[in-house]
Amino acid sequence: MPSLAEAYRPYFPIGAAVDGRTIVTQEELLLSQVNSLVAENDMKWERIHPRAGDGGASYDFADADRIVEFARQHGMKVRGHTLIWHRQTPAWVFQGSGAVEVSRQELLERLRRHIEALLRRYQGKVYCWDVVNEALAEDGSWRADSPWQRIAGGDGDGDGIPDFIAAAFRTARAADPAAKLFYNDYNIESGRKQEGAFALAEALSRQGLIDGVGIQGHWSVAGPDGETVRRAVRRFASLGLTVQVTELDVSVFPGGDRSSPAQPPPGGMDLQAERYRDLFRVFREEADGGRLSGVTFWGIADDHTWLDDFPVKGRKDWPLLFDAAHRPKKAFQAVVSW
Ligand code: XIL
Repeated sequence: MPSLAEAYRPYFPIGAAVDGRTIVTQEELLLSQVNSLVAENDMKWERIHPRAGDGGASYDFADADRIVEFARQHGMKVRGHTLIWHRQTPAWVFQGSGAVEVSRQELLERLRRHIEALLRRYQGKVYCWDVVNEALAEDGSWRADSPWQRIAGGDGDGDGIPDFIAAAFRTARAADPAAKLFYNDYNIESGRKQEGAFALAEALSRQGLIDGVGIQGHWSVAGPDGETVRRAVRRFASLGLTVQVTELDVSVFPGGDRSSPAQPPPGGMDLQAERYRDLFRVFREEADGGRLSGVTFWGIADDHTWLDDFPVKGRKDWPLLFDAAHRPKKAFQAVVSW
């Protein structure tokens, strides 16, 4: 069996999202197929900084450290995911004393201390960070359901960047000047949400605060096609930024399909292989000049995928290149043969 990481070595690192369990249960596959890792959940605020305060007792680095150490042992890169997000952040972060909401100023202080703690701990070990995740709504405006946006989403200095986003990137830049800093989101390969992402990336790059844009890549057999992704990559790259596909999977269910078959829908695996073939051809071509500098799968094999619980809780999906028994699927062949 060829290796994904080997096949793509001339182009970009190939990554997978992992946790403390899958680095054991999927170890063989990971070691043979990828040369980059990201923590699926273990660097998110609720896991790594579950308790109020900033002393050592407030943090829980154990699971993240295990992943970073596994990567080091095997010569793999590590992406950091994610510093600031409205989800998987504990309630205490947004609480003041008593029942009141935290003040804008205190929230920005917490943000700064959190980012400094993580970037210092993983300096030289995590080469890039998703500094802010999913700040945009579908229409390209700032996401209204984010407490970050509600409490610290003003634009005090009129630079076109909500204060919490500017503070996050500034803090990350100062804490680890060598780290590559990314804005990461989904559905930014086209449409109005891309307009929002482009405007944000442009404003951040004007101040030298951003290095790349992460296109999550939670896609399906229905699309998007490679050419759509190519246009997105080129547009962000025109700002002098690099692009990574950060959370790739291709669901066998087109968006809106809520059926729950026990087996993949007829023809689903062939459609999936064709979708992956089309995307990776574009990825290889866009590696030219560093426009696209990484592709990370959100998992590695179909025995562990978040899509088993999203968007339909408990529905099996088969979105990755290896089946549940870790055998290569048609989609794998499509990605490594050209
Ligand atoms: C998902 C994880 O895969 C799940 O295990 C968790 O329950 C929820 O989060 N966009 C992101 C990722 O940026 O962090 C999400 O990961 C998937 C969507």
